[in-house]
Amino acid sequence: MKKLLVNPFANYAPPGLIKGLLKMGDSDLAQANWDDPGGWKSMVISYDGNPTKIADKILVNAGTIPTALRNRRKLGAHAIASLIDESDHQPAHVLCVGAGPGRIIMDAMLLASCDSFATLVDLTDEPFAHGRARAEAEGLADRVRFIQADVRDGIGAALDRRPDITKMIGICEYLTDAQISEIAKALADVMATGSSIVFNSISISHGTDRFFRRVFGLNMIHRSPKQLQDLLEPAGFTDFVSHREPLGVYHIIIGRRAE
Ligand SMILES: C[S@@+](CC[C@H](N)C(=O)[O-])C[C@H]1O[C@@H](n2cnc3c(N)ncnc32)[C@H](O)[C@@H]1O
Repeated sequence: MKKLLVNPFANYAPPGLIKGLLKMGDSDLAQANWDDPGGWKSMVISYDGNPTKIADKILVNAGTIPTALRNRRKLGAHAIASLIDESDHQPAHVLCVGAGPGRIIMDAMLLASCDSFATLVDLTDEPFAHGRARAEAEGLADRVRFIQADVRDGIGAALDRRPDITKMIGICEYLTDAQISEIAKALADVMATGSSIVFNSISISHGTDRFFRRVFGLNMIHRSPKQLQDLLEPAGFTDFVSHREPLGVYHIIIGRRAE
């Protein structure tokens, strides 16, 4: 159904028509993307997966990307929770780059058996109030810290301790190769040798790129796990292992800061 009817309609119907339908349905997901294409609010709506409006129920529950985002949330959280549990340092310190409100890291901290704390860094402080409220509700308020910064400017001075795990999920697909390389260099400077980095790729196989570009104004950069690994490797990252979410849209990739 999706391949034969839904995706071709979404990709090839006049964008004005689809935008009009979404406006008529008062879609929160569409509005979040029009305000900030692919921004943290649209992530939260997709991650939560329980919208009330009919237009959002269709987009969020039937859409390939929102479904894959929920798979990514689960896979990413389990991967980070395992790394927390395997860490030599207790509590483990997780640095989150482009953290938004910190949905995935909070999931991971709650899933892990061992103790952890997290430093959440984002260019904008806009998602922080939402993140702090969520941390409070989850009993994590004293274990998370939000910092507004561009990680490329160097964040070592702002960190209490070198991170044991660095998470950058939900960011590479919005960045150019040069931006990813700059971030990788900045992270290599603050990460201890042997510490882990967790990031994700996105594949064009979701089949709705034309829809996202024309209707939401969202231009994602699709890369294979290997292409991303090749961007991180020169900064000093190695030993990459990738895990596919069930739809094959996202891979969660884990690497290590080399000696
Ligand atoms: C799409 S949001 C994803 C948020 C969160 N990771 C998630 O999955 O819900 C990407 C975030 O990365 C942030 N970002 C992009 N470049 C950054 C940089 N150089 N330093 C810090 N944050 C950055 C943006 O401000 C944005 O909030």
